[in-house]
Amino acid sequence: MSHETHEHEHGCGCGCQDGQKQFEELTPVLDNYADIPGSLITILQKAQELYGFLSVELMRYIAIETHNSIAKVYGVATFYTQFRFEPVGKYLIMLCQGTACHVNGSEMIEEAVMDYLEIKEGETTADGLFTLNNVACLGCCSLSPVMMINDDTYGQLTKDKVKHILAEIKETEKTIS
Ligand code: FES
Repeated sequence: MSHETHEHEHGCGCGCQDGQKQFEELTPVLDNYADIPGSLITILQKAQELYGFLSVELMRYIAIETHNSIAKVYGVATFYTQFRFEPVGKYLIMLCQGTACHVNGSEMIEEAVMDYLEIKEGETTADGLFTLNNVACLGCCSLSPVMMINDDTYGQLTKDKVKHILAEIKETEKTIS
Protein backbone atom coordinates (compact mmCIF):
# COMPACT_ATOMS: atom_id res chain seq x y z
CA MET A 1 0.00 0.00 0.00
CA SER A 2 1.31 3.38 -0.86
CA HIS A 3 1.70 6.00 1.85
CA GLU A 4 2.64 8.86 -0.37
CA THR A 5 2.35 12.23 1.22
CA HIS A 6 1.62 15.45 -0.64
CA GLU A 7 3.39 18.04 1.43
CA HIS A 8 4.48 19.83 -1.69
CA GLU A 9 1.35 19.44 -3.68
CA HIS A 10 1.69 22.86 -5.20
CA GLY A 11 5.27 22.73 -6.33
CA CYS A 12 4.87 24.63 -9.56
CA GLY A 13 7.18 27.42 -8.38
CA CYS A 14 4.90 30.03 -9.90
CA GLY A 15 4.71 32.05 -6.71
CA CYS A 16 0.92 31.86 -6.43
CA GLN A 17 1.16 30.32 -2.96
CA ASP A 18 3.58 33.05 -1.93
CA GLY A 19 1.06 35.63 -3.05
CA GLN A 20 -1.57 34.07 -0.85
CA LYS A 21 0.71 34.32 2.16
CA GLN A 22 2.10 37.72 1.32
CA PHE A 23 -1.32 39.29 0.86
CA GLU A 24 -3.37 37.28 3.30
CA GLU A 25 -4.94 40.39 4.87
CA LEU A 26 -6.70 40.84 1.56
CA THR A 27 -8.43 37.47 1.77
CA PRO A 28 -11.63 38.73 3.51
CA VAL A 29 -11.93 41.49 0.92
CA LEU A 30 -11.54 39.02 -1.93
CA ASP A 31 -14.02 36.67 -0.28
CA ASN A 32 -16.57 39.49 -0.19
CA TYR A 33 -16.00 41.11 -3.55
CA ALA A 34 -14.12 38.87 -5.98
CA ASP A 35 -17.28 37.44 -7.53
CA ILE A 36 -19.26 40.67 -7.64
CA PRO A 37 -19.15 42.24 -11.11
CA GLY A 38 -17.78 45.78 -11.16
CA SER A 39 -16.09 45.52 -7.78
CA LEU A 40 -12.50 45.72 -9.01
CA ILE A 41 -12.12 49.37 -7.96
CA THR A 42 -13.39 48.56 -4.46
CA ILE A 43 -10.87 45.73 -4.17
CA LEU A 44 -8.06 47.99 -5.36
CA GLN A 45 -9.10 50.69 -2.86
CA LYS A 46 -9.12 48.21 0.02
CA ALA A 47 -5.80 46.77 -1.13
CA GLN A 48 -4.25 50.24 -1.14
CA GLU A 49 -5.64 50.93 2.33
CA LEU A 50 -4.01 47.73 3.57
CA TYR A 51 -0.65 47.97 1.85
CA GLY A 52 -0.24 51.68 1.18
CA PHE A 53 0.27 51.28 -2.56
CA LEU A 54 -0.40 48.88 -5.40
CA SER A 55 2.75 46.94 -6.26
CA VAL A 56 2.92 44.92 -9.45
CA GLU A 57 2.88 41.74 -7.32
CA LEU A 58 -0.26 42.90 -5.56
CA MET A 59 -2.04 43.76 -8.81
CA ARG A 60 -0.98 40.43 -10.26
CA TYR A 61 -2.37 38.64 -7.23
CA ILE A 62 -5.67 40.54 -7.47
CA ALA A 63 -5.85 39.71 -11.19
CA ILE A 64 -5.47 36.00 -10.46
CA GLU A 65 -7.98 36.02 -7.62
CA THR A 66 -10.60 38.00 -9.54
CA HIS A 67 -10.07 36.10 -12.81
CA ASN A 68 -9.05 39.23 -14.64
CA SER A 69 -5.99 39.77 -16.79
CA ILE A 70 -3.14 41.72 -15.23
CA ALA A 71 -3.55 44.21 -18.11
CA LYS A 72 -7.15 44.86 -17.09
CA VAL A 73 -6.28 45.38 -13.40
CA TYR A 74 -3.34 47.61 -14.30
CA GLY A 75 -5.48 49.53 -16.80
CA VAL A 76 -8.21 50.22 -14.24
CA ALA A 77 -5.72 51.18 -11.52
CA THR A 78 -3.76 53.60 -13.68
CA PHE A 79 -6.93 55.25 -14.96
CA TYR A 80 -7.74 56.62 -11.51
CA THR A 81 -5.50 59.17 -9.82
CA GLN A 82 -6.44 57.87 -6.36
CA PHE A 83 -4.15 54.86 -6.79
CA ARG A 84 -0.44 54.93 -6.13
CA PHE A 85 2.19 52.52 -7.34
CA GLU A 86 5.16 53.42 -5.19
CA PRO A 87 5.63 53.17 -1.43
CA VAL A 88 4.60 56.34 0.37
CA GLY A 89 7.01 58.25 2.59
CA LYS A 90 6.51 58.47 6.33
CA TYR A 91 5.13 61.98 5.76
CA LEU A 92 2.59 62.34 2.99
CA ILE A 93 2.38 65.95 1.85
CA MET A 94 -1.01 66.68 0.31
CA LEU A 95 -0.70 70.02 -1.37
CA CYS A 96 -4.01 71.59 -2.29
CA GLN A 97 -4.37 72.68 -5.90
CA GLY A 98 -8.02 73.66 -5.62
CA THR A 99 -9.18 76.99 -7.04
CA ALA A 100 -8.74 79.13 -3.92
CA CYS A 101 -5.31 77.71 -3.21
CA HIS A 102 -4.31 78.03 -6.84
CA VAL A 103 -5.31 81.71 -6.88
CA ASN A 104 -3.31 82.23 -3.69
CA GLY A 105 -0.07 80.75 -4.96
CA SER A 106 -0.17 76.97 -4.50
CA GLU A 107 2.11 76.57 -7.53
CA MET A 108 4.76 78.66 -5.84
CA ILE A 109 4.37 76.51 -2.71
CA GLU A 110 4.75 73.38 -4.80
CA GLU A 111 7.97 74.76 -6.28
CA ALA A 112 9.28 75.51 -2.80
CA VAL A 113 8.55 71.96 -1.64
CA MET A 114 10.09 70.45 -4.77
CA ASP A 115 13.20 72.62 -4.41
CA TYR A 116 13.63 71.89 -0.74
CA LEU A 117 13.04 68.14 -0.91
CA GLU A 118 14.49 67.64 -4.41
CA ILE A 119 11.52 65.61 -5.59
CA LYS A 120 8.74 66.13 -8.08
CA GLU A 121 5.02 65.74 -7.56
CA GLY A 122 4.17 62.08 -6.90
CA GLU A 123 7.72 61.21 -5.82
CA THR A 124 9.22 60.16 -2.49
CA THR A 125 12.50 61.42 -1.07
CA ALA A 126 15.42 58.97 -1.16
CA ASP A 127 15.37 58.71 2.65
CA GLY A 128 11.74 57.55 2.49
CA LEU A 129 10.56 60.46 4.63
CA PHE A 130 8.41 62.60 2.34
CA THR A 131 6.02 61.99 -0.54
CA LEU A 132 4.55 64.95 -2.38
CA ASN A 133 1.07 64.77 -3.84
CA ASN A 134 -1.16 67.43 -5.31
CA VAL A 135 -4.77 67.07 -4.24
CA ALA A 136 -8.11 68.77 -4.87
CA CYS A 137 -9.74 71.16 -2.37
CA LEU A 138 -9.06 70.13 1.23
CA GLY A 139 -12.12 71.97 2.46
CA CYS A 140 -10.43 74.83 4.31
CA CYS A 141 -10.17 77.41 1.53
CA SER A 142 -10.15 80.35 3.96
CA LEU A 143 -6.64 79.19 4.95
CA SER A 144 -5.37 78.97 1.37
CA PRO A 145 -2.83 78.07 0.25
CA VAL A 146 -3.10 74.92 2.31
CA MET A 147 -1.34 71.60 2.66
CA MET A 148 -1.78 68.63 4.91
CA ILE A 149 1.07 66.49 6.15
CA ASN A 150 -0.45 63.23 7.32
CA ASP A 151 -3.21 64.43 9.69
CA ASP A 152 -1.95 67.98 10.27
CA THR A 153 -3.21 70.97 8.31
CA TYR A 154 -0.98 73.95 7.51
CA GLY A 155 -2.53 77.11 6.11
CA GLN A 156 -1.58 80.54 4.78
CA LEU A 157 1.59 79.04 3.45
CA THR A 158 4.50 81.00 2.10
CA LYS A 159 7.70 79.65 0.58
CA ASP A 160 9.58 80.32 3.81
CA LYS A 161 6.87 78.87 6.02
CA VAL A 162 6.76 75.64 4.06
CA LYS A 163 10.54 75.21 4.23
CA HIS A 164 10.44 75.89 7.94
CA ILE A 165 7.73 73.24 8.48
CA LEU A 166 9.68 70.65 6.50
CA ALA A 167 12.93 71.52 8.25
CA GLU A 168 11.27 71.04 11.62
CA ILE A 169 10.02 67.60 10.66
CA LYS A 170 13.50 66.67 9.45
CA GLU A 171 14.96 67.85 12.76
CA THR A 172 12.42 65.82 14.75
CA GLU A 173 13.29 62.77 12.70
CA LYS A 174 17.00 63.28 13.37
CA THR A 175 16.43 63.36 17.12
CA ILE A 176 14.34 60.18 17.16
CA SER A 177 16.62 58.18 14.88
S1 FES B 1 -9.03 75.21 -2.60
FE1 FES B 1 -7.48 74.63 -1.21
S2 FES B 1 -8.55 74.18 0.58
FE2 FES B 1 -10.10 74.66 -0.84
